Amino acid sequence: MPRMVIVGTGRLAQALAAWAPRAGYTLAAIVSRDARRARALARRLHAGRGLALGQPLPQAELYWLAVPDDALARTARRLASAPADWRGRVALHSSGLRDRGVLAPLAARGAATGSLHPLMSFAAGVAVEPRGILFGFEGAAGARRRAKAMVVRWGGEWLELPAAAKPAYHLAATLASPGLVALLAAAQWAGGRRLPARSRKKLWRGLQRLMAQTAQNLARPGARPAGAWTGPLARGDRQTLRRHLQTARELGLADFYRAQARLARRLLPSQGQAKR
Ligand SMILES: NC(=O)c1ccc[n+]([C@@H]2O[C@H](COP(=O)([O-])OP(=O)(O)OC[C@H]3O[C@@H](n4cnc5c(N)ncnc54)[C@H](OP(=O)(O)O)[C@@H]3O)[C@@H](O)[C@H]2O)c1
Repeated sequence: MPRMVIVGTGRLAQALAAWAPRAGYTLAAIVSRDARRARALARRLHAGRGLALGQPLPQAELYWLAVPDDALARTARRLASAPADWRGRVALHSSGLRDRGVLAPLAARGAATGSLHPLMSFAAGVAVEPRGILFGFEGAAGARRRAKAMVVRWGGEWLELPAAAKPAYHLAATLASPGLVALLAAAQWAGGRRLPARSRKKLWRGLQRLMAQTAQNLARPGARPAGAWTGPLARGDRQTLRRHLQTARELGLADFYRAQARLARRLLPSQGQAKR
């Protein structure tokens, strides 16, 4: 059975550790800056060993760096500085923005490097299944072979990502997921300003339901943003829009509201504009 080593103990690392056996991998080790954390996670996820970053790594076919994007270069340098033969091994990271270049120290030691980005949100404490997830790959041929075999076993979708496409691809991912979370946080804050505490909880549940239905409208097979587009801008309700802008000004959200409206006008149809 091929062996996998995961570096990092965070949100993605935990998902990968759960998914590894389903791609036919034995989890040889989990590596952390904190040996105790690595050992605890290794016990919980039935990994071979929990190791501190800097300890000698076990032999494995695949090393997956699941650390923050900004820590990738330093982590790769650190792994490459240990006396080990990296020839024939694959090293992957999962940054949606960075390409394989950030793993250059490992490539220089003979590893086939690449980036495999699951277009998914891994929040703490929420288990996510790999089936149906789009995986964006960029990297060397040896890394592609191993990555593709895994994605197929998981039932994921494969996307070839040229390195030059990654920044815009990742901006899109960030708009669609963390951007949505930030938007809901803003909606919760703005809508609750003049409500008593118990009504704010109700408002939040209402916003959750609204957001869930909107997501469902967008997720229907064949759906496009234009088909799910509702509200005063879509209808062309100018007086409502003026009141919104006034309220947004009072709440310090005017720039945000205007920017969003400008984008929507550019990208989405306005029935109201067409009719009036
Ligand atoms: N979460 C997502 O939704 C998601 C989705 C797609 C792709 N990704 C990608 O997955 C990677 C990891 O993201 P994540 O969300 O899993 O992050 P995370 O939850 O913050 O976990 C990152 C882990 O890396 C280790 N780490 C933190 N700072 C480090 C440093 N300076 N040097 C070395 N190790 C460090 C930490 O483990 P120890 O403290 O135990 O060392 C931490 O648990 C990123 O490249 C991200 O772009 C994440």
